[in-house]
Amino acid sequence: MKVLITGISGFVGSHLAEYLLQEHEVVGTIRQRSRLDHIKHIKDIQLVECELRDPFSVEALIANVKPDRIFHLAAQSFVPTSWNSPVDTIYNNAASQINILEAVRRIKPDCKIQIACSSEEYGHVEPHEVPIKETNPLRPLSPYAVSKVTQEFLGYQYFKSYGLHTVITRTFNHTGPRRGENFVSSNFSKQIADIEKGKQPPVLYVGNLQAKRDFTDVRDVVRAYWLALEKGVPGETYNIASGSCITIEELLQRLLALSSVKIEVKVDPARLRPSDVEILLGDYRKFHETTGWRPEIPLDQTLKDLLNYWRSF
Ligand code: GDD
Repeated sequence: MKVLITGISGFVGSHLAEYLLQEHEVVGTIRQRSRLDHIKHIKDIQLVECELRDPFSVEALIANVKPDRIFHLAAQSFVPTSWNSPVDTIYNNAASQINILEAVRRIKPDCKIQIACSSEEYGHVEPHEVPIKETNPLRPLSPYAVSKVTQEFLGYQYFKSYGLHTVITRTFNHTGPRRGENFVSSNFSKQIADIEKGKQPPVLYVGNLQAKRDFTDVRDVVRAYWLALEKGVPGETYNIASGSCITIEELLQRLLALSSVKIEVKVDPARLRPSDVEILLGDYRKFHETTGWRPEIPLDQTLKDLLNYWRSF
C-alpha cells in the first residue's frame, strides 16, 4: 500500500514512518526549512517538498503520489504559539486540510484520510463530564483548539458532501522520544538532562502545574492511527487516550524521581497561558470497540525513554 505522511520529519510523523515502513511504501512531505534529524536514520522513505498551504503544490503532490492512505500530521501544534499567531495557526491548519481534501476529491477519491485532531477541542470540561466521550460538547479555549475543530468539521463535511473516507482522531496528550522541546514532558526532561550535564543551573522552570492531562506513548498512538484507517468507520470521530490522567505536578515529580541531582523548581510567569484547559481525561472505549486498540506502554517507561533521549545529546 502507498502511504503519504504529511509532516513526516516531525515527532509523530517520524514514529509513524518507522511503524509503517516494514510493510508499506512510505512517502512523506517536508518543507524547505524542515530539519531531518528525526528521520535521517530511516531508510527507504521518499521525501517530497511540498507547501501544504498552496493548493497547486498539494494537487501536484496527490497527482504524483496517488496515495492509498494519507496521515495528515503537519500542523502548527503548540498551543501557546496559537495565542501569539492566531491567524497563522488557524490559516495554516485549515488551509492545509482543505487543500488535501480538495486534491483527494478530484484526483484520488478512494484514498482514506486521517484527520489528526485533538483533545484540546474539548477545552472547558465540567467535572461530571470526565472521562470525556466523543459526544461531549466542544468548548475550545485556544486558537489552536479552534483550528482543530475546523479541521475536524472539514473532514466530516467532505465525508458527507463527497463521500470521502475520512476518519477523525481526537488524540489526547502524547509523548516519547523526539517530542519537541516546547511541550511539557519534553521541556522538563530536557531541563533535567541539561542540569545533569551542568549546562543549566539546578533550577527547573515550570508553568501551570495544576492542569491534568491524559498521556499516551507516541508508539501506541501511531499504532492507533493505522487502525483508525483500517478499521474506523468513515465520517466518525474517535478519542485516542490512555484513560487516566495526572497533574503536571505529578508528571514533574515522576521525572525528577528518575534523576539523582537536586533540583529547585521555579514558576516562570511567561509559561502561564491566557486560559489553560484544566482537565483532559479521555474515554477511548469507542475506539477500542471498533479496532481492538488499547495503549500498551506504561507512562513511567515513556518518561524514562524520553529522559534518556535528552541525555543522549
Ligand atoms: N509547554 C509547557 N511548558 N507546558 C507547561 C509547562 C511548561 O513549562 N508547565 C506547565 N505546563 C502545562 C500547560 O499549561 C498545560 O496545561 C500542560 O502543561 C500541557 O502542556 P503542553 O505539553 O504544551 O501540551 P497541551 O496540553 O497544551 O497540548 C498538547 O496536547 C494536545 C492534545 O491534548 C499538544 O501536543 C497539542 O498539539 C495536542 O493537540
